[in-house]
Amino acid sequence: MSQLELDRGVANNDRPDFSKNANHAATAPAFLAVHDIHAYYGESYIVQGVSFNVHEGEILALLGRNGAGKTSTLRAIAQIGSPMMTHGEVWLDHQPLHRMSSHEASRAGLSLVPEDRRIIPGLTVEENIQLAQIAPPIGWSIERIYELFPRLGERRKQEGVTLSGGEQQMLSIGRALARDIKVLLLDEPYEGLAPVIVDEIEKTLNIIKQQGITTILVEQNAVRALKLADRAVILESGGVVYDGTAKEVLENEQLRHDYLAI
Ligand SMILES: Nc1ncnc2c1ncn2[C@@H]1O[C@H](COP(=O)(O)OP(=O)(O)O)[C@@H](O)[C@H]1O
Ligand SMILES: [Mg+2]
Repeated sequence: MSQLELDRGVANNDRPDFSKNANHAATAPAFLAVHDIHAYYGESYIVQGVSFNVHEGEILALLGRNGAGKTSTLRAIAQIGSPMMTHGEVWLDHQPLHRMSSHEASRAGLSLVPEDRRIIPGLTVEENIQLAQIAPPIGWSIERIYELFPRLGERRKQEGVTLSGGEQQMLSIGRALARDIKVLLLDEPYEGLAPVIVDEIEKTLNIIKQQGITTILVEQNAVRALKLADRAVILESGGVVYDGTAKEVLENEQLRHDYLAI
């Protein structure tokens, strides 16, 4: 049995050390702490005891093969209700997200940008952003969002759904920043985009990081994500099989082969 399999066994059964740290923190609790979450779609048990910490201001790559449970984990963290989280805790900056609705979690500073981007039809780029700012807590100004994404400023009067895929991704990130957020959850933001657009979005994710926002980046393009990220968590069958630096995954061929198929 490899060290990774051993680690995985520990991750799936119990993690006494971790829970001690989380519950009786002698050290400061993590900025975002995901602790032993379990979640179901109906009878289907999908998120099977996932734990990891995210430090303030870092980019964490959440990776794993198709069907590993990445989207489900993001949705559980965001308290969407599907999958239903039946056990576990999620703490954001001392706030118990697991006791909140998705709406309350969003007010607490969490924003999930789903894979399908959810641009609202019939509204211009600017109206899509304004809608996000309809109630406090309001985050970045529209001007600041256009500074980050000049393409959005150029197309402010255009209907949002007529934008290119890359521009729609920028709009959905911009819309998240229009709220006062602490953590950005991105589900496959690079999907279907040309490499030059991915470069552009990557640059903005670095700027967002410099502004102190914490990001969890789910990506199929693992190499891209690992080069950008500080740390990585790899999921397999709804459990954590790796938690460490992004650099180590890039350098460890066996790890990449076993869990990412790259
Ligand atoms: N709405 C759903 N109902 C039932 N099962 C689902 C649903 N969504 C996803 N699943 C299952 O949950 C598992 C994890 O899916 P998902 O979280 O989307 O994985 P990933 O994002 O890593 O590709 C898969 O086996 C998938 O078939
Ligand atoms: Mg997914």
